[in-house]
Amino acid sequence: MGIEYLGNKRNLENFIMENLVKHTSDSCHSCFDAFCGTGSVSAALKKKGYSVTANDFLVVSANMTAAILLNDEAPSFSGLVENGIISETDDPYSAVLCYLNSLNGVEGFITMNYSPLSIKNCDTERMYFSVENAKKIDAIREKIEGWTCFLAESESALLLADLVDATAAVSNIAGTYGCYMKYWKKKALKPIEMVKRDFVAGKPGARYAIMNDNVKDIIAEYDFDIIYADPPYTKRQYSAYYHILETIVMNDHPKLVGSTGMRNWKEKTSAFCYKRKAPGALRYMVEHARCKYFLLSYNDEGQIKHEEIMTVLSAKGEVVVEEMKYKRYKSNNSDNQRKDVIERLYILRMGNSDA
Ligand SMILES: C[S@@+](CC[C@H](N)C(=O)[O-])C[C@H]1O[C@@H](n2cnc3c(N)ncnc32)[C@H](O)[C@@H]1O
Repeated sequence: MGIEYLGNKRNLENFIMENLVKHTSDSCHSCFDAFCGTGSVSAALKKKGYSVTANDFLVVSANMTAAILLNDEAPSFSGLVENGIISETDDPYSAVLCYLNSLNGVEGFITMNYSPLSIKNCDTERMYFSVENAKKIDAIREKIEGWTCFLAESESALLLADLVDATAAVSNIAGTYGCYMKYWKKKALKPIEMVKRDFVAGKPGARYAIMNDNVKDIIAEYDFDIIYADPPYTKRQYSAYYHILETIVMNDHPKLVGSTGMRNWKEKTSAFCYKRKAPGALRYMVEHARCKYFLLSYNDEGQIKHEEIMTVLSAKGEVVVEEMKYKRYKSNNSDNQRKDVIERLYILRMGNSDA
């Protein structure tokens, strides 16, 4: 379950959490997941009992993480029950998903732009979704929007995140939404279905918050015990690669350009994706961070060289580096070799910290 997301740390969760616990002090309670993406590290921090604030400048990512942090268990959907939209039941979450999965499809923004029916709109038969699945996505998104006044923030984040997961499972793409396949993948022809997820319970008294900002605009504003930074490390801009999921969550019917129908992704370009700007972006963050420990995930194929990272971090305190090697399949290698990648976790204990 969960979407395929560049740089997602689902498989590195143990490596990150073990080292975070090992190298930080027991007096640390609050963490800031500054580039939260799918929320996998936020979920692990929540499970360990930390208070977590998560941020990402993509709305879809902030929302995926909100669904994890704001729900300790399946919500009651009391607004929908009290207003007779779903019947009283022991399992309102299942009832809501069943309701949404049973909706008749409608020809909305996703259908008219990202299924073959886009031909009516823009002279291109885009094949991101089958017509049937696109109509269902439109119907479900419209219904969740219509329910806004009956849903708590946590409930609406959960339903949108479940819709994103369901959409990802039937997307006719090779990993990201930069382009669509020119033939139908088997998974894209299966009917879309929202499915129940598992929840992560936090520690009683722990607090959770979500932000949706460019990290450079907020880094100097708040204090945390631990800041965990997992910025992009390649030139691939997330706003372009996940543009359709962003549009589904934002539901803002943007102006689209090009044969792939991109929204204006340039509004959210990350300095970390440019070789020239990335070192400065990291330096700015570290200089303005208000924390006891600053942790950075990065790998040896990134825009910033290890030596440069060490220079930036060491200027602020003591640095420990933990490494993990893993094999990555390189699809653009002519000989289809597997390549070893070194994933690093840099742990900076701030010089002015007494932790
Ligand atoms: C490597 S991914 C994080 C993956 C995440 N740890 C996970 O496990 O899913 C980097 C994230 O940083 C976000 N991002 C990039 N530049 C940003 C910025 N300047 N401010 C806030 N978020 C940013 C991207 O949208 C993307 O979700």
